[in-house]
Amino acid sequence: VLGCLGLGAVAGGLGCSGIADGSPPPASPLPWRYLPLDPAATAERTYQLYPQGHCMYAVFTSIVGELGRRLGPPHSTFPFAMMAYGLGGVAGWGALCGALNGAAAALALFARDEAERYQATQELLRWHEVTALPVWAPVGTDARPPLPSSVAGSVLCHVSSSRWCAVAGRAFFSPERLERCKRLSADVAAQTVTILNRGAEGRLARRHEPSAETRACQSCHTTEAQARGSFGNLACGSCHAPGPEHSHSH
Ligand code: HEC
Ligand code: HEC
Repeated sequence: VLGCLGLGAVAGGLGCSGIADGSPPPASPLPWRYLPLDPAATAERTYQLYPQGHCMYAVFTSIVGELGRRLGPPHSTFPFAMMAYGLGGVAGWGALCGALNGAAAALALFARDEAERYQATQELLRWHEVTALPVWAPVGTDARPPLPSSVAGSVLCHVSSSRWCAVAGRAFFSPERLERCKRLSADVAAQTVTILNRGAEGRLARRHEPSAETRACQSCHTTEAQARGSFGNLACGSCHAPGPEHSHSH
């Protein structure tokens, strides 16, 4: 039997209410319940979970898995192992940082509406662009030299990790870079629960602007009138370095 395996494109009458008309089954309405978590303990859990399924898995599971332990279903029934897909910016593609991807997924489970989801997620992305990371370090490993921090200036795995490698003088395929990503994941998880805790107190309503540089670019490019329109809040300068001819053309 096909059961509920179809992706929604199959004809109705399969006995999976909601699937045929494209809406999800009613089993798990959002948001899921959130209980405030301790950022430091969440960071520690993330670090411990990392070896099981990497960055995205560790961040997501340190939050939702812990709530599953406290609250049971539906939190406890989440197929956590799927979150391993975020490794290396989605299956090693170097795109969105997996730690941020896992955090965004957790925020989406607990946000009360779309506005809150945007608010919380954009705050996290912006924080990651501008904050020197990693900051968190495991206790009791004094023997290990402290790792340098770097400002990613981007939410992309490739850019973020390459910047760190440049600052640290390490190769991507070095144990230090792996350790950096483990600690950065711990930082991201702690920041995520800090945001969620604030949301639980109803104090999420802050507006998060992209960088001043990006806003300047957007003032011309992110308009429907602009033939060469662009979309998104990515740090434009991480890929584009407009030459003198660009600044002279307007
Ligand atoms: C004052 C308005 C304005 C601002 C600010 C601006 N641009 Fe442009 N940009 C233009 C216009 C107009 C064009 C089209 C130029 C052309 O087609 O010759 C353009 C073209 C481009 C192109 C297409 C390639 C090229 O160079 O022609 C890129 C990429 C681009 N801009 C990126 C940026 C980025 C990144 C920023 C911010 C750092 C930025 N722009 C800021 C007006 C602006
Ligand atoms: C991850 C890298 C990356 C980032 C970040 C990025 N861009 Fe681009 N952008 C590109 C690439 C690649 C192209 C295609 C260039 C080409 O083929 O000429 C492009 C094209 C453009 C164009 C030209 C579109 C056209 O029709 O010619 C504009 C304008 C532009 N980007 C603006 C921006 C602005 C504004 C930002 C920041 C909000 C930004 N980009 C961020 C990679 C990036």
